[in-house]
Amino acid sequence: MLKGKKILIGITGSIAAYKIPFLVRLLVKEEVEVRILLSQAARDFVTPLTLSTLTGNPVITDFFEEKTGEWSSHVELGNWADLYLIAPVTANTLGKMANGLADNLLVATYLAAKCPVFIAPAMDLDMFKHSSTSRNIEILKSFGNQIIQPASGELASGLCGVGRMEEPEKILDILNSFFETKQDFKGKKVLISAGPTYEAIDPVRFIGNHSSGKMGYAIAKEFADRGAIVELVSGPVNISLEHHNIHISNATSAKEMHKACLLRFESADITVMTAAVADYTPKAVADEKIKKKGETLTIDLKPTVDILAELGKRKRNNQILVGFALETENETNNALAKLNKKKLDLIVLNSLKDKGAGFGYDTNMIKLIGKGEDIQEFDLKSKNEVAKDILDRIYLISTNTTK
Ligand code: CTP
Repeated sequence: MLKGKKILIGITGSIAAYKIPFLVRLLVKEEVEVRILLSQAARDFVTPLTLSTLTGNPVITDFFEEKTGEWSSHVELGNWADLYLIAPVTANTLGKMANGLADNLLVATYLAAKCPVFIAPAMDLDMFKHSSTSRNIEILKSFGNQIIQPASGELASGLCGVGRMEEPEKILDILNSFFETKQDFKGKKVLISAGPTYEAIDPVRFIGNHSSGKMGYAIAKEFADRGAIVELVSGPVNISLEHHNIHISNATSAKEMHKACLLRFESADITVMTAAVADYTPKAVADEKIKKKGETLTIDLKPTVDILAELGKRKRNNQILVGFALETENETNNALAKLNKKKLDLIVLNSLKDKGAGFGYDTNMIKLIGKGEDIQEFDLKSKNEVAKDILDRIYLISTNTTK
């Protein structure tokens, strides 16, 4: 998949720069065309001669090359590349990139580049742990850049910890899988709800459910891998997910989830509600812990807002709305009723009767029911594979949706 791609590599002044000639060799073997931007500091670690010999292209550092009288355009380089890899990136260059500084060709090209940008930090463990480094990395992620996390191991300082730039073979794998994944949702804005909600009874107790959030998170990741910008509104779950295209907002109760989803719905092209939202919530939340007394305890409940139904009412023609239905009886008819009542484009039906499907499992078995009652049935699959099937169907709907 890398064959024929054009990759620009920006190298900054870190000892890890010695690994880049190895990476260049691997890329050239895959028939990638490589051009190199070398910062002034990086020239102390690798020579332009080594890199130009391996790439077959001149290596550039400055806007103006005195010897040849040539001027290099950051815009031209940014436009030329299918991907810009900045590796190794020092804390200094990370800071410049996060703050829009453009005092050398390498960072000016970063600002001008329209292609995907991958960043491989390398620094000493304490520099990597510093709050300013973490903040800069978060800023770069929010720009949509992909961070190749440094590995843990022996560092040039003699210390041991996180900060080593990833090995060339690993970076090659990451670039390869990036080009292998189709980008059919590139630029689409997607809203996803996931996980359970907790409805407080008193300061220490709540009414909840067994939703693990795994299905919703798998869908969020699949959208993000395929180029969408994802707003994930998550109930309390035990999953950690970091992706440059995913922004997670936490919501505990149905009320909080409702507010968070409404805020984000207007600008979403596609919305998928996977959350197991409580249908009822206590009428009143006790201020103090409810003490044990008597044989029975009655808690009065009132209905929550049906978030999906409300989004269905607000939906514009160019928006796609997808819901989930978890049924234990009369499954297809119940799901169809929900599809129509909540004005959905698609409903994902899973039945608790199927072994290995539903809450907590890593697998799921679904039926997809679209408008016009066209039903697609699938085998038991991993939730990641199920997410792919759901996205493929949504993609088909999106190609028929009025723009
Ligand atoms: N849903 C929602 N807000 C609620 C309840 C449900 O957004 N208060 C969404 C879920 O995220 C799911 C869909 O509605 O996408 C269907 O949820 P489900 O619990 O199966 O259906 P309900 O409409 O609540 O009906 P019932 O519980 O009676 O089956």
